[in-house]
This record gives sequence, C-alpha cells and structure tokens, in this order.
Amino acid sequence: MREYLSLEPLTTRIQTHRRYSEFPDDVEGAVLRALPRSVETDLLDVGCGTGAFLRTLTRRGHRGRLAGLDTSPAAAHALREVAGVTAVLGSVMGAPFGSASFDVVTARHMLYHVPDVRMGLAECRRILRPRGTFAAVVNHPDVTPRVSELVAGVVSAAGVAVPVVPNARVHSGNLPEMIASVFGAVDVHRYDNALVFDRPGPVVAFAVAQLSFYGVEPESGLRPELTRAIEKRVHAWFASTDGPWRDPKGYVVCGSTVI
Ligand SMILES: C[S@@+](CC[C@H](N)C(=O)[O-])C[C@H]1O[C@@H](n2cnc3c(N)ncnc32)[C@H](O)[C@@H]1O
Repeated sequence: MREYLSLEPLTTRIQTHRRYSEFPDDVEGAVLRALPRSVETDLLDVGCGTGAFLRTLTRRGHRGRLAGLDTSPAAAHALREVAGVTAVLGSVMGAPFGSASFDVVTARHMLYHVPDVRMGLAECRRILRPRGTFAAVVNHPDVTPRVSELVAGVVSAAGVAVPVVPNARVHSGNLPEMIASVFGAVDVHRYDNALVFDRPGPVVAFAVAQLSFYGVEPESGLRPELTRAIEKRVHAWFASTDGPWRDPKGYVVCGSTVI
C-alpha cells in the first residue's frame, strides 16, 4: 500500500507510542515473551517495517537466520543496512519461501493490511517447521478512539469517503479465532494502556500520520488543508480544558505452535 512508500508516518506513530504512553509500552518485549528463548532459531519477521525488531534481535546476539519480509521497498531498503539480516521484498500472500523454512514467524501490527488474513496466516503456517512458533500482534478494535474520531471527522468534513480503517478489519476481538482456525490453538496475552498528551503538537503529528488509513493518499493535495483542520480542532480543545488528552489503547499478542 502507498502508506508505506515512506516509513516516516510509521516512525511518527511508533515514536508517539514510545513517548506518550501512560505506562511503558514495550511491544517488542511482549512479542519476545511469546517466542522460544533460544537464540538459534531461524526467524522471519513478516511486515518488518522499520526493521527495529530484527535489529533488537541482532543486538541480543541472535545466532539463527534472521529475515524480514515486506511489500514496501522502503522497509526492505531499511533492512539492507542491518548486518546478518536478509531483506525480502514481497507479500505474506504467497510468501516467497519454501515450506518448513523457519522456526519462528512473527507478524507484528501488519495483518490489518493483508487482503485475505486467513490466507496470510495459512502461509505463515506453511513456511513454519513442525513445532515452529507463530506470534502476531494486533490492536484493540477501538484503539485511540478520540484521535480516530478527530481524523474521521476532519476527513469526512472535506468530502472524502472514509473507508473501513485497517484496524476495524482485524483486531484483538477477531484475530484469536482466525489464528485458532489455522493453527488449531492460540494463546492470547492482552495489554491495555493509553496515550496521554499534555500539549497539541504530538496529537496533531499522530493524527496526521494516520490520514492514509482514512482515505487520504500520501500525495493527496488535500493534506495541507486537512492538517490545518486537525491543528485547529486540537488547539481549540487544549485551549478549552486543563486536562490532558487521554486516549485508551491496547493490543493482544497471539501465539501458536505448529503441531
Ligand atoms: C503498521 S506497519 C508495522 C511494521 C512493524 N511490524 C512494526 O510493528 O513496527 C505494517 C507493515 O506491514 C507491511 N505490509 C503490508 N502488507 C503486507 C503484506 N501483504 N505482506 C508483507 N508486508 C506487508 C507494510 O509495508 C508495513 O511495513
């Protein structure tokens, strides 16, 4: 999708979660807890994005094969700079790997974008070895509802039809059942938190970094106008209240083993 032609909006969203979470938000740690402890495993990170997770694994002294798969050339390029990690440009729909190629497959915050999620999950299972581990992360369906309402409101006021946002398709409410139907069983760990902002700037940046999901392509000429509208609403809200902008959020880590 065009959203990931540049990794800048993704990086803004990641940094927002890192800096403005009410409690420390350690998604990587949550995923690692669902994986085998061994550093000898061959691991594929599907939808690897910035490559930060694979960098973490190399820093931790991972000795098995590490690979990242992503449809975004920018993501594959980011990974080429990480020594010892193979970057593969491609989709999990028809993953370009032989059957039983990996001990671990991770799909962190990416299944929202996969056109046929069950087929994507079946591919993850196919490329896993017997007793291999699969771990996926997805948000709650109602994640950061206030920012969602803000962006949807501004976009629809500009006459843009708001599509089904990625998070409404695949979320903590429906993914566990989908994984269970493909892998046979699933372990689910839930993490709840909130974003808390004490000033307008980071809210605006986070909202603008989501415009693509609301039907506004990265190169749309509407972006400057929509950004101004977001700024106006957020500044007006902070001017009218003392309280911080608090937006609940959270996700599940779903783990499965190939039996
Ligand atoms: C929300 S980002 C998450 C990135 C990273 N996993 C993280 O948690 O920071 C989603 C990533 O999935 C990639 N992606 C989308 N559809 C994909 C597909 N069908 N196969 C592989 N990667 C895909 C995007 O290019 C993007 O890098």
